[in-house]
Amino acid sequence: MSRTDFLRQQMGLGPIWQPRGEWFADHPALRQTQQQFEEQGDVADAPVTTPLVATADPKRETAASQPSANLAPPVEAATPAPVPPASELDWEALQQAVAACEKCGLCKTRTQTVFGRGNPKARWLLIGEAPGEHEDRQGQPFVGKAGQLLDNLLAATGLDRDTDVYIANVLKCRPPGNRNPTPDEILACEGYLHQQIAHIQPTLILALGRFAVQTLLQTDRPIGQLRGKLHDYRGTPLIATYHPAYLLRTLPDKAKAWQDMVFAKRQFAAISR
Ligand code: URA
Ligand code: SF4
Repeated sequence: MSRTDFLRQQMGLGPIWQPRGEWFADHPALRQTQQQFEEQGDVADAPVTTPLVATADPKRETAASQPSANLAPPVEAATPAPVPPASELDWEALQQAVAACEKCGLCKTRTQTVFGRGNPKARWLLIGEAPGEHEDRQGQPFVGKAGQLLDNLLAATGLDRDTDVYIANVLKCRPPGNRNPTPDEILACEGYLHQQIAHIQPTLILALGRFAVQTLLQTDRPIGQLRGKLHDYRGTPLIATYHPAYLLRTLPDKAKAWQDMVFAKRQFAAISR
């Protein structure tokens, strides 16, 4: 199938939106035309663009490809969905709750919790995995080597790390020896992240690495399958890319991460139009 046909097929499906209330009714992405999508698809080095929100659930993708789904134009296909739940705590109280948290065993080994950094009113929200050694010591996310790489990626994308983005992690405490988070730890901690997102109400979420994307989309699909697409987290567009620490170990995938940033920037522009 040609690229154009692929895009056309994608576009005929009707999106699987989970819109958030009134904000969504005039979502600029809904006004994108087929021609605009095709123009986006023509950029040589970009990953295949799935212009409408993809779903992490393969079953839903299959359902969406049924011919009957093709009949509904995108705007009408968007059924009203509940407004995302408001955060239970205000921002300050949420920070205090995290600082005092003992909901999982990591509270015993941490030096301090790492809540997040950047502009809480930013339109971009970046989500990593968990604090490492430097983050645990300084109380800030992404201040080590992976953080430097992330800062470079952001700067090259034209984003200021202090004003244009907010950066948080799935876990607020460091797993000893930087081991992977366990499912129990994620389950204990993820509520804080959901509340952070509800406060920030970002225009676009960039999930860094598999733990962030799998937690937010409730999927176990690998990052290689999830990147390069526009997903939906409770009505907010979400894009996944590789974790910067992984990129430090796997240089060839740096080019793909750069493609993902280009894709994210283009999608952000389309959403913001
Ligand atoms: N890796 C992460 O996922 N988060 C950090 O804050 C630092 C490294
Ligand atoms: Fe609490 Fe999260 Fe730290 Fe566990 S990792 S103690 S749930 S803040």
